[in-house]
Amino acid sequence: MADDVWPGETPPPPRPTSPTTSGAATPSAPPPPPPPPTGQPIVVTSPATPAPPAPSPGQAYAPGDAAMLLPNRPRIEVPDAIVRTSGLTKMYGALPAVGDVSLAVPRGSIYGLIGPNGAGKTTLMTMVASLLRPTAGDVWVDGYSPLDDSAAVRRITGYMPDGLGVYDGLSVGGYLEFFASAYEIPSNEWPDLIDGLLELVQLEVKRDAQVNSLSRGMKQRLSLARALVHDPQLLILDEPASGLDPRARIELRELLWALQGMGKTIIVSSHILSELQEICSHVGIMEAGRMLAEGSPESITTNLGAVLRLRVRFDDGAEEEFEVPDRAAQIALLRSLVMRDDRQVVEFREVSSGLEDVFMNVTKGIVQ
Ligand SMILES: Nc1ncnc2c1ncn2[C@@H]1O[C@H](COP(=O)(O)OP(=O)(O)OP(=O)(O)O)[C@@H](O)[C@H]1O
Ligand SMILES: [Mg+2]
Repeated sequence: MADDVWPGETPPPPRPTSPTTSGAATPSAPPPPPPPPTGQPIVVTSPATPAPPAPSPGQAYAPGDAAMLLPNRPRIEVPDAIVRTSGLTKMYGALPAVGDVSLAVPRGSIYGLIGPNGAGKTTLMTMVASLLRPTAGDVWVDGYSPLDDSAAVRRITGYMPDGLGVYDGLSVGGYLEFFASAYEIPSNEWPDLIDGLLELVQLEVKRDAQVNSLSRGMKQRLSLARALVHDPQLLILDEPASGLDPRARIELRELLWALQGMGKTIIVSSHILSELQEICSHVGIMEAGRMLAEGSPESITTNLGAVLRLRVRFDDGAEEEFEVPDRAAQIALLRSLVMRDDRQVVEFREVSSGLEDVFMNVTKGIVQ
């Protein structure tokens, strides 16, 4: 496992800017990534695409080898992408936990990674966060390669893992002080910084409570506060909503919007499509290590020919279902229905937004 972790920089790097939670920290003149070749804004690969070849025992891959392994990998062009990957691959023995993933995360977006258990979401996120070494392919975070400059990537990135870990004997405030210290934030700034973070995640009353005494949802919030300690531009949140009650999920959603409003880019994973669909400007659908479709929900549904389904109830008690290709057609349909004289519409609701259809069509329920 030690070979999987990036070399050096076990402790977090020095912080680059003031430790406020508003405004993004911008590193000076990052080296631009190589310009990606032109391509389609949406990637759709057949789920039947064979997995990348397994390395023979002892075979070493280096970043860049993916081009040889996987000659036809898809490319994506997004003019201002804070994260790009190209042919990103992580092999565990013969298993492609992530196989040939090329994606682009637009700056300022909320990018949802959706996929079933074992799809490769966590593996992908940890590679972007510079915590796991890819077997092949490339990653750039704001122009920095985690392989060449993991310190720069960690300055820019706040990572929230899918579990908080155990911190015996630490209070909530002490926990955040520990990470503020690790990021070399001057101790005279800690009180204001921690006040601000606890207010943001609504944990002010728990400042002196032991971390281990927090409920699961509170630990999730604390974990998010920890990821924000150094005011990162990019947040990578692995299943932040898991275990949260319905109210906490709504609050999390609002918090993510607030963070986006501060200029941050957020990559967030979930198994639950409806959860992501509500908040994400961009979505990547993964299964068995593959990125099956990527782009804005509208572009994915349009490109894959999904339909919107509406259920309409009339005043005579009858219910009818209608299928329309897009929002414009949906609006036209509803307008025509309410204008009818013979029957009155008393209720209508969306049965499927289209993305669910796409998800069901492109995924095959493969568990590897
Ligand atoms: N350290 C490891 N050693 C071997 N296989 C691993 C390791 N980490 C992950 N895998 C495998 O890689 C695949 C992808 O795992 P990953 O944790 O990335 O999936 P995930 O999409 O995050 O799943 P979940 O929704 O359950 O969190 C799985 O088949 C998993 O068993
Ligand atoms: Mg996971």
